[in-house]
Amino acid sequence: MSSNLESFNFDIPVERKGTDSGKWGWFGEDVLPMWVADMDFASPQPIIDALQRRVQHGVFGYGMDSNALKQTLVERMARLYAWTIQPDDIVMLPGLVSGLNIVSRAVGEPGDGVLINTPVYGPFLTAPVNQQRSLQSARLEVTKHDRRLHYTLNMPGLAAAIQPTTRLFLLCNPHNPVGRAFTRDELTEIAAFCEDHDLVICSDEIHCDLLLGGTRHIPIASLSPEIAQRTITLMAPSKSFNVPGLGASFAIVQNAALRKQLETSMAGIVPHVNLLGVVAAEAAYADCDDWLQALQAYLTANRDYAVQFVEERLPGVATTRPEATYLLWLDFRATGLGEKPADQLLKTAKLAVNDGAWFGEGGEGFVRVNFGCPRSLLADGLARIEASLKAA
Ligand SMILES: Cc1ncc(COP(=O)(O)O)c(C=O)c1O
Repeated sequence: MSSNLESFNFDIPVERKGTDSGKWGWFGEDVLPMWVADMDFASPQPIIDALQRRVQHGVFGYGMDSNALKQTLVERMARLYAWTIQPDDIVMLPGLVSGLNIVSRAVGEPGDGVLINTPVYGPFLTAPVNQQRSLQSARLEVTKHDRRLHYTLNMPGLAAAIQPTTRLFLLCNPHNPVGRAFTRDELTEIAAFCEDHDLVICSDEIHCDLLLGGTRHIPIASLSPEIAQRTITLMAPSKSFNVPGLGASFAIVQNAALRKQLETSMAGIVPHVNLLGVVAAEAAYADCDDWLQALQAYLTANRDYAVQFVEERLPGVATTRPEATYLLWLDFRATGLGEKPADQLLKTAKLAVNDGAWFGEGGEGFVRVNFGCPRSLLADGLARIEASLKAA
């Protein structure tokens, strides 16, 4: 296996300028982009080959759900998580931001509440409001040892934020931006809370394959059949295999009534999944396990490099040590970069990172850095931060 793993080379930069990449195009050519969550690696060869074969066919008419993909997903959930699902439990979606909006619309009525923990991926804050739900939130619990941050779900905060109108809890696991992969005990506690308050759980598990240093992912729906009955799980190959531009994702909904609610809220609005996205998803889940394993090892080494760099060379900056994702969450509040460190880094270092405020309460004064890139780019980005701090 090791010789196979060594055959993937994530060190080679791929030129993305001039490709209409959102990440590389938004801030201009002189800026190093370490913001939006896609990676600067080419997708695995089996995906590229499968797409080429499909493109060669030359006919791109309307598609339909792929039974082969659904069967592969059923086997994958059983193999990775000992989680038994059926092909009919899977609802294909063009994207998971759509998924968060569809779920917010499908559960409860206008005016009902949706509960979240912040800081969290921005659309968790906007999707409920887009769908006329009221947002109820509590900050994640955070502890700090030296300059290491560790986040946990804030159960007392959630208990205080919940209202009689609350119908839905949005969970992000693994968590963007704080990089937690929640443990079985943590998931059991939040699941019991949702049972006690009769909440539907929507668990966004888009980062479930980006596991660092031997971390394991546990889908909350796999805890028990009872929890599965109240859970909508959102997953996609997009982050794992770097195909977010191809628009193919899915929900797993084992409760037939809940699935019907979801499908009703999609009707006439949500388009069919992109034909090429389905081809990519099939190849990703069928043929790319070795690539994914090599990617996890590379990202783990990037994480370790970045955390060490922050702790040795970025005075005053506190950092998470993510268990999953390729996202580092940095606290600049004790530095001279001011209240908006992301703006400062863009101006003084020509480095684009995400402003922590976009992730809601508890994110002000933080930035999110994407380390899903060749180590040389990561080193460049971190050196730019170091220079900005010295100049501040
Ligand atoms: C937690 C989470 N959910 C959803 C998405 C976006 O999903 P999509 O591109 O499928 O809309 C992201 C992208 O960064 C994410 O981090």
